[in-house]
Amino acid sequence: MTQHTLWHEHKISRAQRAALKRQRPCLLWFTGLSGSGKSTIANALDLALHQRGYHTFLLDGDNLRQGLNKDLGFSAPDRVENIRRIGEVSKLFTDAGLIVLCAFISPFTKDRRMVRQLFPEGEFIEVYMDAPLSVCEQRDPKGLYKKARAGAIAEFTGIDSPYEVPERPQIRLDTSKLTVDECVAALIAYLEQHELLAT
Ligand code: ADX
Repeated sequence: MTQHTLWHEHKISRAQRAALKRQRPCLLWFTGLSGSGKSTIANALDLALHQRGYHTFLLDGDNLRQGLNKDLGFSAPDRVENIRRIGEVSKLFTDAGLIVLCAFISPFTKDRRMVRQLFPEGEFIEVYMDAPLSVCEQRDPKGLYKKARAGAIAEFTGIDSPYEVPERPQIRLDTSKLTVDECVAALIAYLEQHELLAT
């Protein structure tokens, strides 16, 4: 409910906060199946940017679901609310001048679009982790696919809950073919080409 609330302009602007950090804030949104490498690549990029002196912050599904979103499950409406909250938190962090990396399955096109619409043109960068389900299932780093196949987890993405493939992601990475370093290099190259990092 937004009734009876008024927006207060802050004394320090978004641009001033970013300028103090000498960087251009943006949101790198990693989407893909569980086990597609979202957290691995987001963490590797986070480290690479941090080492170059950028101020970053990483949000990921497994961690956020233990705190801010611990009241949410995996039904379609709960996933919508999960992404809505993360979108708003990401917006606040970019307003604070940070480069934000988000790693969430975010299976629905509509929700990813909703987050995109919170950001100025060019600041929302959709990174589709395009690893085949068979590869993710074979990796099964948390043993969750096995449990889902056995019927112990319901509504598991890719098994009995849908994943809507991004139609026009800014970056597509096939982690069944690329190494972690190659993925990071591709992401850094994108950020440099779009003048989001100093070259
Ligand atoms: S999202 O669909 O709402 O975007 P999110 O990225 O926050 O999902 O959380 C996904 C993580 O939760 C997975 O990496 C996995 O470890 C865990 N998980 C537990 N149950 C499920 C489920 N039913 N479907 C997908 N992931 C699940």
